[in-house]
Amino acid sequence: MNLAKRLQLIKPSPTLMVTVQVAALRRQGIEVIDFGAGEPDFDTPEHIKEAAIAALRQGQTKYTPVGGTAALKEAIIAKLQRDNGLTYSLQEVTANCGGKHTLFNAFHALFGEGDEVLIPAPYWVSYSDMAILAGGQPKLLPTSEETGFKITAAQLQAALGPQSKALILNSPANPTGAAYSEAELRQLADVIERSNVFVISDDVYEKFLYDSPRCPHLLALKPHLRDRVLVVNSVSKTYAMTGWRLGYAAGPRELITAIETLQSQSTSNPNSITQAAAVAALTGTQEPVERMAREFAKRRNYVVARLRAIPGISCTLPEGAFYVFPRVSAYFGTRWQEKTITSAMDLSLYLLQEAKVAVVAGEGFGSADHIRISYATSMQNLEQGLDQIEAALRRLGGPSPGT
Ligand SMILES: Cc1ncc(COP(=O)(O)O)c(C=O)c1O
Repeated sequence: MNLAKRLQLIKPSPTLMVTVQVAALRRQGIEVIDFGAGEPDFDTPEHIKEAAIAALRQGQTKYTPVGGTAALKEAIIAKLQRDNGLTYSLQEVTANCGGKHTLFNAFHALFGEGDEVLIPAPYWVSYSDMAILAGGQPKLLPTSEETGFKITAAQLQAALGPQSKALILNSPANPTGAAYSEAELRQLADVIERSNVFVISDDVYEKFLYDSPRCPHLLALKPHLRDRVLVVNSVSKTYAMTGWRLGYAAGPRELITAIETLQSQSTSNPNSITQAAAVAALTGTQEPVERMAREFAKRRNYVVARLRAIPGISCTLPEGAFYVFPRVSAYFGTRWQEKTITSAMDLSLYLLQEAKVAVVAGEGFGSADHIRISYATSMQNLEQGLDQIEAALRRLGGPSPGT
C-alpha cells in the first residue's frame, strides 16, 4: 500500500495501544487490572445524560454551526468567566470533537515548516506527533523529579529562539500530574511576556488539583497576552465524558476562525446531542466534579504511599490529574525469561504478563525510566493491582536495598 509520506512520521498512540492489549488478554479469559486508563472510571453524571436524552427527543439531531451551537458557545463563555475569570465573545470560542481534535485543529492552523513547538517533557503522547503532522518541529524541554517535572523560567528563556512558534503548557499534566503554583507560573509568564511565543494552554485536568491552592490562569495573570494564548479544554475528563467527544477552545478571533474553517472541511460540527449534554455539564451543578476530585485525592495518596514502599521505586507526589509517574529504572538490569529488562517498555511488558496489571511505559511520554499508572480505577482495583505489582517486582529480585 502506497500511503502518504506523513504517515511515516507518526506512531499510534501508545496509551490507546495498552487498551487494545488489555482487551486482547481479557478475550482470552485472563483477568487484567488496567492502570492504563486515561479516563475517569466514574459514570457521566445523570443530569448530563438527561440533557442528551431530551435533545434527542426534541430532534436536535441535525447539523449545527461548525464550531457549535450558540447555546454551547454561551455555556463555554460562562464557564471561562466563572472558573477562570476570562472574558470571551461568541467569535472567540469554538467547539470541536474532543480536546484532541481542538489541539489537532489548532496545531494545523498555527504550525508550518520550520516552526518550533516547545513541549515540556515528559509530555502527553499526542503533542509531539501532532506537531510533526502539522509540519512543526517539536523541541522538548526536559524536566525531572528534581524540578517536580516542571520547566523553570530560566530553562524556558534558554530554549526560546527565533524559530519558537509556540509553547504547550499542560497543568496539571499528563503523565506526571505536575501542576504549576502561582509563583512558578508567574515566573514563566514573565518570560513569555518578554518573548513573542504563542501559548497553547491545555487545561483539560484543571479540576483535578488536590492539596495545592488553585492557581490563576496564565491569562488571568497577564490579560494583555490574550492575542497570544489559546485556552483549550474539554468535557472529557472533568465530567467523565470521554466517549462523548467534545473539546473547546477560546482565543484570538483569527485563530478561532481558522480552526472552524479547518473543521468545516473535515468533521463539520461536533455531535449535536453531545453539544446539548455539554451545555448541561458546563452550566449545571459542579458537585459531581468535586466528588470525583475528592475521591481521586484519596486514591493518589494511597497509590503514592504504596509505590514508595516498594524497594527501588521512587515517586513524586503529583499535584493533580489522575496519574502517578514513578521512576522504575532501578529494576533495569534484572532478568526475566532469559532477557534483561532495560527499559520502561520491558518492565511494563513484565508487569502485564507476570503481575497481570497494565501500565503505560514512559517511552511514549518521553521517558524510558518511568511508567505511568492511572488511578482512575476503583480503590479495590488499586489495592489488588499494587499487591500484584509489588509481588512481581519482589520476584524479579529487584534492586539492592537502598536504591
Ligand atoms: C493532556 C491531555 N490533553 C488533551 C487530551 C484530550 O482529551 P479529549 O480528546 O478526550 O478531550 C488528553 C486526553 O488524554 C490529555 O491527556
